[in-house]
Amino acid sequence: MKRILITGGGGMLACALAESFNDGQVLSLPRAEMDITDLQQTWSIVRDYKPHVILNPAAFTRVDDCEIFAERAFAVNARGAENIAVCARRAGARLVHFSTDYIFDGQSSVSYREDDRPNPLSVYGASKLAGEVLVRKALPRHYIVRTSWLFGKSGANFVSFVRQKLTEQKYVQAAIDQIGSPTFTDDLARAVKLLIETDCYGTYHLTNSGFCSRYQLALEIAGLADCCQDLVIPIKMEQLKLPANRPRFTVLDNASWRIRGFKPVRHYKKALRDFFKDVL
Ligand SMILES: NC(=O)c1ccc[n+]([C@@H]2O[C@H](COP(=O)([O-])OP(=O)(O)OC[C@H]3O[C@@H](n4cnc5c(N)ncnc54)[C@H](OP(=O)(O)O)[C@@H]3O)[C@@H](O)[C@H]2O)c1
Repeated sequence: MKRILITGGGGMLACALAESFNDGQVLSLPRAEMDITDLQQTWSIVRDYKPHVILNPAAFTRVDDCEIFAERAFAVNARGAENIAVCARRAGARLVHFSTDYIFDGQSSVSYREDDRPNPLSVYGASKLAGEVLVRKALPRHYIVRTSWLFGKSGANFVSFVRQKLTEQKYVQAAIDQIGSPTFTDDLARAVKLLIETDCYGTYHLTNSGFCSRYQLALEIAGLADCCQDLVIPIKMEQLKLPANRPRFTVLDNASWRIRGFKPVRHYKKALRDFFKDVL
């Protein structure tokens, strides 16, 4: 039976991964028990547990806070990722490291492929890109999985936030000019489970199929939650005056996934319906 180690155990994706892999032996540790910026602590856990696979969703993900706490962003998202890769190499384990659509600048008008040139607009994006580079250097047996717009059972995310506001009859502003692919953590976890059964290492884009603007997504959420769509206010991203710049268009072409013969991950609208049915 495979031993799986999951970092950042309290996080949204980590919870979905732990659930999805629960037919094996899983150790999922929150930051308080394994801080990936602490190489010694991390290595002693990896050395003792001897995982076959390490899944690394741990990250400093608060995009706006990363602008203020840039040092921390790089410590976790870049050096922390490198630490995990070094531990995986020493232990002879495979590593799935998670990255983001925010490594791209969003200027493209066609979906991004894995080998398209990254150009992050934010500290968060830059720190995640640095993490990718360090993981590739430290460990040949890596899968770097870039994903986007996650929603899932636990943790703060756009879908849960919008639903909460709308059910409280509150207005929600949503950008008409930010386009991406919402991705259900359960679907991503299932896809990762298939991926690690192969020796096809490398970089992957993995998202639900389909894409939309934040505004369209908020309208869909209103529909599914049986709330008034008039509460959703369309705005432009610049009106939100957020500290970190966000890329406008980050649809990720899951090209490597497809080329390896995997079926496309289902449409985000189907995933969203299941999320509302089962979870909320
Ligand atoms: N959410 C999205 O929309 C999205 C989109 C694209 C890519 N991603 C990527 O997908 C991955 C998972 O995202 P998520 O939304 O599940 O994130 P999340 O809910 O914020 O979870 C990240 C977890 O990492 C933990 N963490 C932070 N610093 C750590 C450290 N030094 N050592 C160990 N754990 C640490 C956090 O713990 P604390 O809360 O205690 O700090 C948190 O529990 C991340 O790599 C992210 O970059 C996310």
